[in-house]
Amino acid sequence: MRVPLIAGNWKMNKTPKEALELVNALKPLVQNAAAEVVVCPTFVALSDVLKAAEGSNIKVGAQNMYHQDSGAYTGEISPVFLKAMNVEFVILGHSERRQYFLESNEEINKKVASALKHGLKPILCVGETLEEREKGITFDVIGEQVKKCLADLQQYNLEDVVVAYEPVWAIGTGRTATKEDANEVIGFIRQQLKEVLGEKLSVNTRILYGGSVKSSNIRELMEMPEIDGALVGGASLDAAEFAKIAIY
Ligand code: PGA
Repeated sequence: MRVPLIAGNWKMNKTPKEALELVNALKPLVQNAAAEVVVCPTFVALSDVLKAAEGSNIKVGAQNMYHQDSGAYTGEISPVFLKAMNVEFVILGHSERRQYFLESNEEINKKVASALKHGLKPILCVGETLEEREKGITFDVIGEQVKKCLADLQQYNLEDVVVAYEPVWAIGTGRTATKEDANEVIGFIRQQLKEVLGEKLSVNTRILYGGSVKSSNIRELMEMPEIDGALVGGASLDAAEFAKIAIY
């Protein structure tokens, strides 16, 4: 049984004060959500948001981390720090990190391993660009991302892995993949998971859709058999809108 998961990726938005206001506004609105609800503020707002979310059904995730535990890596954040703060989830390999910070599948693989090693639940993002979709190589790109990012993880508790399918052309563009397209690619990801993680985990792993998810399209997406939840960007910055998505 895969428990639905609705995660808000606040990206580089909201000061600590604004983040606190947002999570406080959200708490009463999502308290009856059947889905697991996660918010991912910036690093500097994590502490305030974690404190505010204590005792509520809102869980907290980070948006990135470095794979090393500590050391001379100026400007980076370690999974050890996140764990020490009681952060539960961490988004890894988001397309914006791949695009602007040139993260490779190999590097993301190291991050996934390190997150699992420290007991964080990775939300691994994969997705094709518009150019790749138009060239007809969506499945090749996604297959490679899944296999490389999840390689050699057998020693870890892989039940904690969450995958998010986020077609790059649908992120922040207002263009959502059709529910059929999203379901098809997510079904393909599940097949790939069978090869990398094995049959049981492929059935139990939650795979989310992300890319212009809003309260007006969440329900039809969630009706699809392969889609287990959503990773929400823009629409997660407004408490009322995100709450509508979380209780879809
Ligand atoms: P969006 O972003 O909902 O604003 O399209 C989704 C994401 O990047 O996770």
